[in-house]
Amino acid sequence: MKNIVLFASGGGSNAEQIMRYFSQSKTHKVALVLANNQNAGVLAKAEAYNVPTLVFTKDELNNGFVLRHVQAFNPALIVLAGFLLKFPADIISAYPGRVINIHPALLPNYGGKGMYGMHVHRAVLENKDPESGITIHYVNDNYDEGNIIFQQSVPLDGCLTPEDVALKVLALEHEHFPRVIEELLNEQDN
Ligand code: GAR
Repeated sequence: MKNIVLFASGGGSNAEQIMRYFSQSKTHKVALVLANNQNAGVLAKAEAYNVPTLVFTKDELNNGFVLRHVQAFNPALIVLAGFLLKFPADIISAYPGRVINIHPALLPNYGGKGMYGMHVHRAVLENKDPESGITIHYVNDNYDEGNIIFQQSVPLDGCLTPEDVALKVLALEHEHFPRVIEELLNEQDN
């Protein structure tokens, strides 16, 4: 069994899709869900799939506590699924090429500090972009700058509000993220 470890900050609809996708797998499993907020909706979703959880503080993320906890689960892949804090360098260097993130826009546009969730969708609408999309990428020490693994665009016809854009982008995330994770895990064997 290869272990997937998920980090999330909020509702966790992506985390839920990933847990659902791998719940039937004989080769891969979501072994741990970590959240930096005890009210994060993702925690109840993890419990529904019998996945252990850990809630941590920003200090614990940055002082080695979270790294030690993650190491105990021997992850083949660490997945940031709606995780909004800066990811610490010690975990990135402990798992080279094994930490990935999903971003709700077509990077390199609309990335960087402060560009997350609705802020991204609002900026895309304000610029009157005809399309948006998703980017799955490796995580490095700079926000949203790691090598791109997968992108998919979607036309924004009929989108009047940031919430309209979010719905289209989330649907794309749910459709592609679990499959891309599975492909990355399978490629590790080649
Ligand atoms: C997703 O759209 C994800 O791309 C975004 O937060 C949302 C989380 O939704 N992530 C970022 O903005 C990271 N910079 P979810 O909690 O329902 O999966």
